[in-house]
Amino acid sequence: MAEDSAVPSRPKKIMQLNFFETACTGSHMATGQWKSPEDNSRYKDRLEYYIWLARLAEKGKITSIFFADTYGIHETFEGSPAATYRGGSQVGTMDPVCIVSAMAAVTKTVAFGITGSTSYVNPFILARTWSTLDHLTRGRISWNVVTSYSNSAARCMGKDKVLPSEERYKAAHEYMDLVYQLWEDCWDDGAQKWSVEPECAYDPDMIHRVEYNGKYHKMSGYGQVHPSPQRTPVIFQAGASKSGIEFAGKHAEGIYTDVSTVDAMLSYTKAVRAAAARNGRDPSSIKFFAAIMPIIGRTVEEAQAKYDYALKNISVQGGLAKFSSYTNVDMSQFPLDEPFNFEGKTADNTITGVINNFKTYSKDMSEAWTPRKLGGMLSFGGTTPMPVGTPSMVADFMEKWFTETDIDGFNMAYVSNPGSFEDVVELLVPELQKRGLMWTEYPVPGGTFRENVQCAPGKCFLPANHPAKSKFERPNYLEEERAAEEKKKLEAQAEKLEKESTVTENNEEKSSAVEEQVSAATTKQTQDGEEAASLPELVSPVSETPTLLAEEPERMKVKSEAESKVAEQLVVLSVDTLPQNNEYKAEELKKTETEVQVLPVVVAT
Ligand SMILES: Cc1cc2nc3c(=O)[nH]c(=O)nc-3n(C[C@H](O)[C@H](O)[C@H](O)COP(=O)(O)O)c2cc1C
Repeated sequence: MAEDSAVPSRPKKIMQLNFFETACTGSHMATGQWKSPEDNSRYKDRLEYYIWLARLAEKGKITSIFFADTYGIHETFEGSPAATYRGGSQVGTMDPVCIVSAMAAVTKTVAFGITGSTSYVNPFILARTWSTLDHLTRGRISWNVVTSYSNSAARCMGKDKVLPSEERYKAAHEYMDLVYQLWEDCWDDGAQKWSVEPECAYDPDMIHRVEYNGKYHKMSGYGQVHPSPQRTPVIFQAGASKSGIEFAGKHAEGIYTDVSTVDAMLSYTKAVRAAAARNGRDPSSIKFFAAIMPIIGRTVEEAQAKYDYALKNISVQGGLAKFSSYTNVDMSQFPLDEPFNFEGKTADNTITGVINNFKTYSKDMSEAWTPRKLGGMLSFGGTTPMPVGTPSMVADFMEKWFTETDIDGFNMAYVSNPGSFEDVVELLVPELQKRGLMWTEYPVPGGTFRENVQCAPGKCFLPANHPAKSKFERPNYLEEERAAEEKKKLEAQAEKLEKESTVTENNEEKSSAVEEQVSAATTKQTQDGEEAASLPELVSPVSETPTLLAEEPERMKVKSEAESKVAEQLVVLSVDTLPQNNEYKAEELKKTETEVQVLPVVVAT
C-alpha cells in the first residue's frame, strides 16, 4: 500500500482522555512533589487512593486509567539507586494487577490498562492473569505490552543484562503468537455446557491443546481460563524504535506516545499507521494517546502559582537518576553546571522515544543543556508538553494538538494529586465537552474497553484483520447476555404494571405494550454492532463524590467559569525558567506569556 493511503480521511474524531498512573508511592512524573503536604502520593499504598481515582475517572468520563509499570529501580546514576530513593522517584512500586479489581468494583465503565513485560512474565501466566481481570471487570482491561528496557530489571530477574532491543522485540512477537492462541483459539465459544444429563460441565471437544514451540517461548497445554468478555484484552504499546514501530503496527490497538512537537507526532503516527497497513490492518483502528501534564488554574495567576509551588518541590538528583536510567548514560560523570552536548552520548538499550525527544527539543534551544537543567526538567515532566493556564487555555492547547496531529486523545499525567486530576475532571473536561471535543457520556456505558475506545458498540472482540484473530467467527455472547438482562428488566416492569393496574382492560393494554417492547428490544440486541448502538442504557453512570483520605488536606473548591477573570494567554514554561539550584524561588523564574506551544517532554515510566 502506498504510504499516503496509510492515513485515510476519517470521520470527526472524539477526544478521549486517559489518566496516566503508576502504582508507586512518592512521585511519578513530577519527582519530589511528595514534599507538598497537600500531595497524596505517599498514600498510594492504600485502596482508598485507588477507589478515589477510579470514581473520579468515571465521573470525568475518562476512557481508561493507564498503569505504567517497571521492574527494578533507576540505578544507572552514580551506579547506585541512592538518588532515586532520596528523591522518591517512582519507588515503592506496587503491582497494579492486585489493585484493579477494587477499582472495578466501584465503577461500571472506566477501563484499566496494565503494563506487562514480555521479557519477564511467563506468557501462560500473563494470559491467565489478564483473562481473570477481563472476566472480573466485565471486559474493561487492556495490556500495555513492554519488553522492559533496563538492566536493573534484568538483574532483578537473575540475568546479567537486558537483551538487545531488536531481539527483545523478536521474542515479543513470539510471545504474542502464543498468548493469542490461548485467548483466541484454545476455547471454543459455548464450551461450558453445564449439562446434567448427559453429564458435561465443559465439552472436551471444544477445548483445544496449545502446542507452541518457538525459539524463545514454548508451551504444551490448555489455557487455564475460559474466554473473557473481550477474549484478548485491548493491546497497548509504546515503542518508538524501528522494531518498536513495526511491533505497534502489527499488534497495537492503542499507543501511548510522548512526543514533544506537532511535527514529530505527525511523523510518528504516520509511521505506525503505515506499519499497520503493511500488516493488513485498518490504520485508523489504532488509537494514539499523547502524554500531557497540564497545570490548570481558574485564573492565569492561580495556574502560575501552582506551577511556582510545584517547582519548589522538584528533585534535580532524582530527575538525573531517571534520565540516566532511561538513556543508559550515567549523568554523574558530567559536571553539574557545565554545558552538556547530548549528541554522541547515547548508549544501547535505551528508550528510543526519550532520545528522540531530546534531540528534537534541543534543536530549538538557545542555551546548551547542563546536567542540572536536565535533572530539573526530568523531575518536572521531562519533555512532556506542560501547558499552564486556565481551562480554556489548556483546552486551546489540546485542541490545537488534536486537530493538527493524528492523535485520538491524551494520557493525562499529573503533577500532584488530588489537585491535578480534580482540576482535569472539574475544570478541563467540562470545557472540552462544551466545545464538542469530548463525549459527555461513554459510547457504551457499562460496556467493554474495546467498544468504548473504538466507539463501536457491540464490537467486544478484535477485528478480523488483526493477527490475533481466530479462524472462528464468534457470536457476541456479551450482547446476548445484555439482551437477556434487558428482557428481564422489561418483564419485571410488565409484572409491576400488571399488579398496579386495577382495571382489567387497562391491564391488558399495558402488558401487551410492554410485551412489544420486550420483543423489540430482544430482536435489536441480537442483531449486529451498528444496531446495538441504539440499545437502551443498562447501567447508569456512577456519580459518587471521591472518597477523601483521612489525612488529606482540604481540597480546592471548584468555582464556576464566570468567576475566573481569565487573561487569554497561556503561560508556557521553558527549560530556561528552571532554577539553577535546589533553592527554588518563585521570583527567580522568568514568566513567558506567549502563544500556545509545546515544551518539555520525557517518558513517563
Ligand atoms: C511513552 C512511553 C511509555 C513507556 N512505558 C513503559 C512502562 O510503563 N514500562 C516499561 O517497562 N517500559 C515502558 N516504556 C518502554 C517501552 O515499552 C520499550 O521497552 C522501550 O521504549 C524500548 O523500545 P523502543 O526502543 O522501541 O522505544 C515506555 C516507552 C515510552 C516511549
